[in-house]
Amino acid sequence: MSNTLLQQYGPWALIAGGSEGIGLCFARQLAEAGLNLMLLARRPEPLQEAQEELCRDFSVEVRTHAMDLTAADLEEQLEKVTQGIDIGLLIYNAGAIHGAGLFLDEPLQKTRSLIHLNCLGPAIFSHHLGNRMRQRGRGGILLMSSLSGLTGGAYIAAYAATKAFDIILAESLWAELKPFGVHALGLVAGATDTPAMAASGIDFEAGHTMDPAVVANEGLTQLPHGPLHIAGAQNRLGAAILRGEDRRQSVALMSAGTAGLYHLPVPDLSTTDMG
Ligand SMILES: NC(=O)c1ccc[n+]([C@@H]2O[C@H](COP(=O)([O-])OP(=O)(O)OC[C@H]3O[C@@H](n4cnc5c(N)ncnc54)[C@H](OP(=O)(O)O)[C@@H]3O)[C@@H](O)[C@H]2O)c1
Repeated sequence: MSNTLLQQYGPWALIAGGSEGIGLCFARQLAEAGLNLMLLARRPEPLQEAQEELCRDFSVEVRTHAMDLTAADLEEQLEKVTQGIDIGLLIYNAGAIHGAGLFLDEPLQKTRSLIHLNCLGPAIFSHHLGNRMRQRGRGGILLMSSLSGLTGGAYIAAYAATKAFDIILAESLWAELKPFGVHALGLVAGATDTPAMAASGIDFEAGHTMDPAVVANEGLTQLPHGPLHIAGAQNRLGAAILRGEDRRQSVALMSAGTAGLYHLPVPDLSTTDMG
């Protein structure tokens, strides 16, 4: 896979949310394949640690930039940090698992921030970098999504809705960019053992959890094929049920699953008169 990655997506990859978790795993695998890396995240310390580790272990150039992907001047910042470097691969990884709570009880600002991070961010980055890739006739765009983007569910309304946006954007880009030699993929993860997920208060014991390196590897392997990949055999089985025609069942299952992971009450949807 290494040679193909460099030829199709080199010489630079940009990872939005590349300092830890799945993003850092993408960085390691791309550095091993010889791609230079531009890593973005908010906190400078994990970025610096990632840079030191990658430069020590691989013969590639690694640049970092501390920035908030929900910033109002995102386009201007992106233009500035990517000036003069030939980016052939965009991985929009940051998605911010914020834990679980009822939509009406959460501050509206949290929803706004999720829309910025998971909808506006991927749209701006894909538009800006995708245009350059289309001009040069090769490249790749990978947008991270989640099983929760396949169906609605209690406790994660805004997160799930923004993750659905990422799936549809990636699938559409796949269709539009394929004729120009640019690959696009929506990568759907289920529960994955990352620092952000651990900090969200999830009970990893309550469900099946994946290794972030495996999620990243499946994404890079599937990127040439598009448009959507569900990481992990067990998640693919779950996704088939979640994407079924019986949407009441899908929403009830997602709600019960989230409730289990966060020790919240399972909504009693069976008593609702749904016609
Ligand atoms: N982990 C899971 O169980 C799971 C399940 C399904 C889907 N996913 C998806 O997989 C992706 C990665 O998830 P993850 O668990 O690794 O956690 P994450 O918080 O989505 O991503 C972590 C990376 O993104 C950066 N980041 C987060 N918010 C940012 C912001 N506003 N601006 C700039 N950088 C930001 C983090 O660094 P800073 O904190 O320093 O900014 C870190 O580098 C997400 O898209 C998520 O939705 C994860």
